[in-house]
Amino acid sequence: MKKIAVLVSGGGTNLQALIDAEKRGELGDGRITCVISSKPDAYALKRAKDNFIKTKVLDRKAYPDIASYSKAMTETLMEAEADLVVYAGFMTILDEQVCKAFPYKMINVHPALIPSFCGKGYYGLKVHEEALKKGVKITGATVHFVTEECDGGPIILQKAVEVRNGDTPEVLQKRVMEEAEWKILPEAVRLFCDGKIRVENGVTVVDR
Ligand code: GAR
Repeated sequence: MKKIAVLVSGGGTNLQALIDAEKRGELGDGRITCVISSKPDAYALKRAKDNFIKTKVLDRKAYPDIASYSKAMTETLMEAEADLVVYAGFMTILDEQVCKAFPYKMINVHPALIPSFCGKGYYGLKVHEEALKKGVKITGATVHFVTEECDGGPIILQKAVEVRNGDTPEVLQKRVMEEAEWKILPEAVRLFCDGKIRVENGVTVVDR
């Protein structure tokens, strides 16, 4: 059994997709054993509790800087004996100590096709606002390993989504979630838990 810790900050629809996938037996050997939120009022916490998953709040605002927050997060993840850490709408950039403690054991879902619309400042709705401003006709989602470089770790899975005339950021966000994020995040978790992802020379080889 592989223990999965899920990090959240908001609504938790990606967490819900993972919970539903686990219930359908689609996470392979993986079990979601704890959910950690950077915000005390994140709706994702309710989703976890409703499904009898252990929760913990590590309030970003209670720590003076990112180093002390990252230290607390590293300790929490060690205590949880996490085999895999999933950033599911987790909006805090942690520092290198977490990446060092969990090398190629942390994955993130990003709501665009990396390397487009990614890096510091690109999160949540903002990503879709920028995609619409640029007028791209195709966007999508990416699941990648978390490294010290924000949104720069090896890409695991990507899925393209069409941009349509008249899209608002909210409409596009919903389509990207439904057609891409909620599918490729559980799939990447299953592939990880089944040992189907390896990193060679900084890029992944995925046996799907
Ligand atoms: C999702 O679209 C996720 O990809 C994005 O925030 C949303 C969270 O929704 N994450 C980022 O932008 C991280 N850079 P959720 O809380 O409903 O899963």
